[in-house]
Amino acid sequence: MRRSELTGGQGTVIPVFGPDGDDGVAGLCAWLEGERGALAGLLREHGAVLLRGFGVRAPIDFERVAQALEPDLKNEYLGTSPRDALTTYVFSASELPPYYPIPQHCEMSFLREPPRRLFFSCMVAPQGGGGETPLCDFRRVAAALDPAVKERFVRGGIRIIRNYNGPAGGGRFDLWKLKRWDEMFQTHDRAVVEEKCAEQGFVAEWGPGDKLRLISEQEALRAHPETGAVAWFNHVQVFHQSAAAAELRRIHDRQHDLRSLLLTQVARLVSGLRRRVSDPEALPMHCTYRDGREIPEADLEHVREVIWRNLVAFPWQQGDVVAIDNFSMSHGRLPYRGPRQVVVAWA
Ligand SMILES: [Fe+2]
Repeated sequence: MRRSELTGGQGTVIPVFGPDGDDGVAGLCAWLEGERGALAGLLREHGAVLLRGFGVRAPIDFERVAQALEPDLKNEYLGTSPRDALTTYVFSASELPPYYPIPQHCEMSFLREPPRRLFFSCMVAPQGGGGETPLCDFRRVAAALDPAVKERFVRGGIRIIRNYNGPAGGGRFDLWKLKRWDEMFQTHDRAVVEEKCAEQGFVAEWGPGDKLRLISEQEALRAHPETGAVAWFNHVQVFHQSAAAAELRRIHDRQHDLRSLLLTQVARLVSGLRRRVSDPEALPMHCTYRDGREIPEADLEHVREVIWRNLVAFPWQQGDVVAIDNFSMSHGRLPYRGPRQVVVAWA
């Protein structure tokens, strides 16, 4: 295999492997199976590896590649993004509208046992800029945070509030089109939902209009289960009610287009209105410290600055496969236009 590298952020290096000759999917899978130990070492060190140019065309090809590296793939998803199943273990990465920014996060960081590894593959590359899946080494973020800000997060912990509509709740205009609780838990049975919530330590509260409120807590930092390296590992930059506006502002600074400017203004307006009229407990998604105190906006901004300084964003090429150590490296999505298909698997 040919080895090169991608660099970005503040010293992040992502190893890239490409074919030497005409290795296709079968050749790649055989190589991955033989090199599993070495690749696990690279993932531990760098947080991600990119496999490029092997002719991965269909979700089933990607499933074979991911399984060659990680035989024990999983398929239960308790995240917020709408996703469609494409094979037993491959899903569309997100069915959220293309204009929606997905800030950096480690996959399902709020679960008791988050995925260890995550795989993305590009079936259809977006054209004309945007649509990247930027990565960020959250170990570097943890190390670069201002000690006083970090201390407040470590002592405060994080409380996540999420409010979901249900199947009987009727249609409500929802700019971000988040899933309903029956879609998230794959059942209409409230007892099953409660059981799954108990497994994850979520407090589930049923409300009028078939609504479900989930309250969960997490630490701000987490040590890697194998290396012990401490990473920023939480969903505050996704679930805080100010997240979309703050993310869009940075995207506008990067993309300089009218659409991101307009979206920034809309998101800022919605966020400002919600802050004034809503009880924080009733917001679609929000985060506070564990005791319910609001997290200072300046601290959130500092975290976002550090994350954006450490981003590695590269344009997708059709057939790319990225393997990610979910306890070290976060991912997100930049807005795009036109066709784009990125698929995901995890273990
Ligand atoms: Fe994700």
